[in-house]
Amino acid sequence: MTEAAFTPRVFSGIQPTGHLHLGNYLGALKRFVETQNEGVESLYCMVDLHAITVWQEPEALRRATRELTAGFIASGLDPEKSILFNQSQVAEHAQLAWIFNCVARMGWMKRMTQFKDKAGKHAEQASLGLFAYPALMAADILVYHATHVPVGEDQKQHLELTRNIAAKFNHDYGVDFFPDTQPVIEGAATRVMSLRDGEKKMSKSDSSDMSRINLTDDADTIAKKIRKAKTDPAPLPEAPDGLLDRPEARNLVNIYAALSDRSVDQVMGEMGGKPFSEFKPALADLAVDRIAPISTEMERLMQDPAEIDCILARGADRARGIAAPILHRTYEIVGMVGAGGA
Ligand code: TRP
Repeated sequence: MTEAAFTPRVFSGIQPTGHLHLGNYLGALKRFVETQNEGVESLYCMVDLHAITVWQEPEALRRATRELTAGFIASGLDPEKSILFNQSQVAEHAQLAWIFNCVARMGWMKRMTQFKDKAGKHAEQASLGLFAYPALMAADILVYHATHVPVGEDQKQHLELTRNIAAKFNHDYGVDFFPDTQPVIEGAATRVMSLRDGEKKMSKSDSSDMSRINLTDDADTIAKKIRKAKTDPAPLPEAPDGLLDRPEARNLVNIYAALSDRSVDQVMGEMGGKPFSEFKPALADLAVDRIAPISTEMERLMQDPAEIDCILARGADRARGIAAPILHRTYEIVGMVGAGGA
């Protein structure tokens, strides 16, 4: 089987920890919706097994998983078109992860910078799961033979590891079974920075809630956060290159462009030279217009957790339909009795 034999299939995983914010929306969700609407088969997975590599309060985890799902749907992902599910309901992820634990080398895992960052000085106290995290991620992707994986820049190394695991498996067993997965890295243009510091990414873990627009913020809160966003005193430059050394101005222009589906050049054509006292209200109106309906819809969906659970269970059934034969064949290749083979 050659690479060309793999039909295009998109997979991405998102951890159900913390709230979704504008950065997640513009960097990931909005693009997921576009991919879905192009008709590419896509799976979006709430990676609850990854979440517990660091301690999670069980009630908070359940709630975050449902809220993330609500955020996906409210942003335009259609559970009939895309496959939305939580990882733990499809046991094949964990099963393939075990095989990959036996393929990946200690040396490879030790080089993972995210582990080093997350474990910090206390690596001895970190869970074994946190260390093995990237092998489970490889299993998430490869159990569907996914060909494209949209992720942030910070996941590049994990995608590289996924390709190495696939290649070593194929090599060790003399097969051409797992595809060479392509990362689809979120572009700098869609990277949303903090509203308090234009050099820092907008993040769910920033201690200041004013630094981000949450997808659960209501219209007034969204408008207030834009009004109070940090800027410099000068008006917007006349041309885009004037934004280069003005990170806060650049961030707000980027947000405006992304929310209105226009290029930065187009936005500067309209807004260049205007003072923030004019630009900010226009941006606030636009943000409220695009984000407030999402937060309203999320709130509505969260009133009915049973409905969300139903969507996840149905998504898991569909996901299993793809994953089970691939895991079965993997077991057969590896030599597990009961999985067929000579
Ligand atoms: N590690 C990813 C992150 O922190 C989440 C993730 C888990 C993922 N499994 C995945 C992303 C599979 C893409 C594909 O963002």
